[in-house]
Amino acid sequence: MAKPREHWGSKAGFILAAAGSAVGLGNIWKYPHMAGQHGGGAFTIVYLICILIVGLPILLAELSIGRRTQLNPVGAFKVLSDNSSWKWVGLLGVASAFTILSFYSVVGGWTLKYTLLALTGAFNDFAVGDSAGKAFNAFVTNPIDPIIWHLVFMGLCVYIINQGVKAGIERWSKVLMPVLLGILLLLVVRGITLEGAGAGLRFLFSPKWSDLDASAVVLALGHSFFTISLGMGTMITYGSYLSRGSDLVQSALWIIFLDTAIALLAGVAIFTAVFALGQNPAEGPGLIFVVLPSLFPQMPGGAIFAVMFFALLFVAALTSAISILEVVTAYFIDEKGWSRSRATYTFGSIIGLIGVLASLSNGSFNVLAPFTELTFMDLLDKASSKYMLPLGGMLTAIFVLVRWGIVRFMDEIKAGAAWFQLHRWAVTTIFTIAGSVVAYIFVRELVALFG
Ligand code: PHE
Repeated sequence: MAKPREHWGSKAGFILAAAGSAVGLGNIWKYPHMAGQHGGGAFTIVYLICILIVGLPILLAELSIGRRTQLNPVGAFKVLSDNSSWKWVGLLGVASAFTILSFYSVVGGWTLKYTLLALTGAFNDFAVGDSAGKAFNAFVTNPIDPIIWHLVFMGLCVYIINQGVKAGIERWSKVLMPVLLGILLLLVVRGITLEGAGAGLRFLFSPKWSDLDASAVVLALGHSFFTISLGMGTMITYGSYLSRGSDLVQSALWIIFLDTAIALLAGVAIFTAVFALGQNPAEGPGLIFVVLPSLFPQMPGGAIFAVMFFALLFVAALTSAISILEVVTAYFIDEKGWSRSRATYTFGSIIGLIGVLASLSNGSFNVLAPFTELTFMDLLDKASSKYMLPLGGMLTAIFVLVRWGIVRFMDEIKAGAAWFQLHRWAVTTIFTIAGSVVAYIFVRELVALFG
């Protein structure tokens, strides 16, 4: 007999775990540098619109599919579609989990290394010239050091996921998320009290539309999936540990609110410092690992804020990474009858190995070298957030519209949220718009890729 399904211990526990999944490198590492390069406020506005019209409906769809079926994404689509080919949407999600976690964990390893560098005062040497850039480059291209940190990070994920839903994911999220918020608020206060911080706020919140082009819109849409952990069944999986009767609408609003607020606060903390200390906001991915380490030594109390910042990044990355591993784990437990520990060790190791190749691709060994200039690590990142997640999200919206049905979807939502009264046609319209927006941008992207 299979064990009964584990459930979250409390509503707050679930919200913190799901917000922990949503808040991650996407909020603190990716969003600020994307906004930095694509018109600051203009990018932020497009990203917020995408979250509201596409993110929210698809988040509700995923949570309700999970809660209805009490299953992993593959099992969930199978059950709701009489075992038809819709299960491939679930399998696409499992594939996305492999793709994302194997580069995510490499960056997770960087955050550990940089927390250690901050603790040992190494940033003091980074204030002059391009020493921070050189040090970062030497680190990520090294064939051993970043791999060790990546494996340590993966090991932590396996350790937590092996403890299960309540004793692992929920317990850790309940400790780590408040820590994350606390640190972030301190960093925001530090940032806005720096002289010249206002320029950073203006940059982030006043739109420069001329820097926003079509590719930035694609980026913003892909990012809204990535940042709320949508399009690969993470929220189906987390929803499957809910019992009927919980208010999904309220939970979804909390998750989106926390995710968005934390991204914006991280943007404030980072850009106030970048502008106050006269650096370039459009630095790109190096913004966090190059510009910030060179700024901390110039800031009063910088040594301690540096440790806090990288610890924050690490905590955010960890609570997201575990949610990705849980998708793969839940699939093998539900569908293949594996034990939790067998699934976590096996797939933790496989993803760990793919991550080794991703890390090596930044240095002298890029498996993709014969085919393209792209590194393997970049490919994993681009393939997932530009194509796989939007595709998964679009198919989920279509699934609700044409297969599961809006009426059944609304029945599931209303169990626990009786106050939520929207006419069937309004919901149909919302899902049609969400699906069409993604489809339009996705097809344009494909045409651009092959055209
Ligand atoms: N939402 C996470 C972040 O912003 C990343 C993530 C993507 C997690 C997909 C789970 C699934 O960093």
